[in-house]
Amino acid sequence: MSVCLSLSLSVCLSVCLPACLPVCLSACLSLCVCLSVCLSVCLSVCLSVCLSVCEYLRVTGVCSSTAPPTNTSLSVRPGDWLQEGQQVTFSCQSDGAPPPTLVLRRKGEELQRTGPAPSQLSFSLSSARLEDSAHYQCEASNQHGSQLVTRTVSVTAHPLQVEVSPPVSSAERGSGLVLTCRASGCLHPPNFTWTRTDQNQNQSQNLQGTQQDGLSLLRLQDLDLQDQGVYRCEAQCDSVIRTGTVQVHVYSFPSDPVLERPGPVLRGREAVLRCDITDVFSANQMRVLWLSGNTTLHSESFGFSGSLQNVSAVLQRRVQEDQVLTCRAQLLAPGGHVWRSRTASVLLTVHSPPTNTSLSVRPGDWLQEGQQVTFSCQSDGAPPPTLVLRRKGEELQRTGPAPSQLSFSLSSARLEDSAHYQCEASNQHGSQLVTRTISVTGTTSC
Ligand SMILES: *[C@@H]1O[C@H](CO)[C@@H](O)[C@H](O)[C@H]1NC(C)=O
Ligand SMILES: *[C@@H]1O[C@H](CO)[C@@H](O)[C@H](O)[C@H]1NC(C)=O
Ligand SMILES: *[C@@H]1O[C@H](CO)[C@@H](O)[C@H](O)[C@H]1NC(C)=O
Ligand SMILES: *[C@@H]1O[C@H](CO)[C@@H](O)[C@H](O)[C@H]1NC(C)=O
Ligand SMILES: *[C@@H]1O[C@H](CO)[C@@H](O)[C@H](O)[C@H]1NC(C)=O
Ligand SMILES: *[C@@H]1O[C@H](CO)[C@@H](O)[C@H](O)[C@H]1NC(C)=O
Repeated sequence: MSVCLSLSLSVCLSVCLPACLPVCLSACLSLCVCLSVCLSVCLSVCLSVCLSVCEYLRVTGVCSSTAPPTNTSLSVRPGDWLQEGQQVTFSCQSDGAPPPTLVLRRKGEELQRTGPAPSQLSFSLSSARLEDSAHYQCEASNQHGSQLVTRTVSVTAHPLQVEVSPPVSSAERGSGLVLTCRASGCLHPPNFTWTRTDQNQNQSQNLQGTQQDGLSLLRLQDLDLQDQGVYRCEAQCDSVIRTGTVQVHVYSFPSDPVLERPGPVLRGREAVLRCDITDVFSANQMRVLWLSGNTTLHSESFGFSGSLQNVSAVLQRRVQEDQVLTCRAQLLAPGGHVWRSRTASVLLTVHSPPTNTSLSVRPGDWLQEGQQVTFSCQSDGAPPPTLVLRRKGEELQRTGPAPSQLSFSLSSARLEDSAHYQCEASNQHGSQLVTRTISVTGTTSC
């Protein structure tokens, strides 16, 4: 820029003459013999020489290369008040010689700088953000000085709002889910984009939603574990983008637990029950409760696994009597409430060897010849013991497996019926023997 050429002659001279005259005068005076004559001659000679030199320097631009930055201006288009998303352009220019270097700064941070040649700077933000509200400064500087201008820019929020519903979603593996993204504050239907980020937050995938005015639906079908993650809906209105997210969890708990039917257990021994649950996800959200009636005996949890898992819970329990044992499997939501609960029950039967075996004789152990006598034998035990009544080793009666009570009668006792009578109760777990001694006396005495 030949700005300096347009500088008035006086400005140029005010710089040039003070430099030129002393040099010229000292050269002139050194050649002088008579100072009084010389002084006026030298003055007029030097003045005209210097004026010519200065004019020459002014015309060739050498003199003019000495102006500090002036008239520095910073303009903001379209203006200082912007809405989020608008494009904004900052232009800075300045006069000066040599052409000033221009630097645009926001809060002290340099945004752009010109090289030495063009003393005009232009900087654009394609989409203004709220945080772009600030003081912007353009500084023009060359070796003769600097000039600073400041503009304050305010960015107000665009009214666009985005909401995704439901905010958290849990769905069973194999089922479907519809996510809704609703946008408001846009004068025309905005553009929607759906993306999914997986659990590790490092893999994104674009998804196709169906768009209706102001909202977009994302239909997810036949959900599987890899469909879990954060679903992000992006709505674009003008150049403003807003996002809403929803976390989708997929769980799997397709079938009831399987409780193996245990064999009979001897009273007082430990029973071991196993409850198997297949294809569970995620296992760390599974809780298995063991119950006897309404009483919780034991609770078991499992570790995390990234895939479907078969889990087993085991109960070891010393048993005294028959009881119904239940395995209740619960899949919990992250908040701790129960998503789904399934149960399996089994009747645990307790076995025992014969106990409490008794043999009674009516009317009594001492009988008179001809009296009717009845032997009754009974025994506890599981399964019900078989009862055998013997006299001197000879079997008199035997029960079948069902009733564990035996009854045997002699309609008329004879003297030779006096003997030891034995009742033996037995099942596969043991046997018990009881003995009664019967004496029959004759009726011939007095
Ligand atoms: C500053 O710039 C304006 C417009 O570009 C111009 O009219 C004015 O003369 C300039 N002032 C100086 C001192 O150069
Ligand atoms: C939506 O996207 C299309 C293609 O990218 C673009 O032409 C259109 O202007 C966008 N509409 C809005 C409202 O941003
Ligand atoms: C994602 O991140 C996990 C762990 O941070 C890593 O093991 C896995 O390889 C990554 N996957 C991709 C596709 O980068
Ligand atoms: C178990 O609890 C339920 C409700 O709490 C009750 O109605 C039921 O009678 C209880 N059953 C037993 C065997 O205690
Ligand atoms: C779980 O058990 C079922 C049936 O026993 C079997 O088909 C399946 O492969 C098992 N799954 C796993 C992850 O071990
Ligand atoms: C034996 O029988 C009596 C009376 O029938 C009963 O009180 C007792 O509990 C029984 N003992 C055993 C071990 O079954």
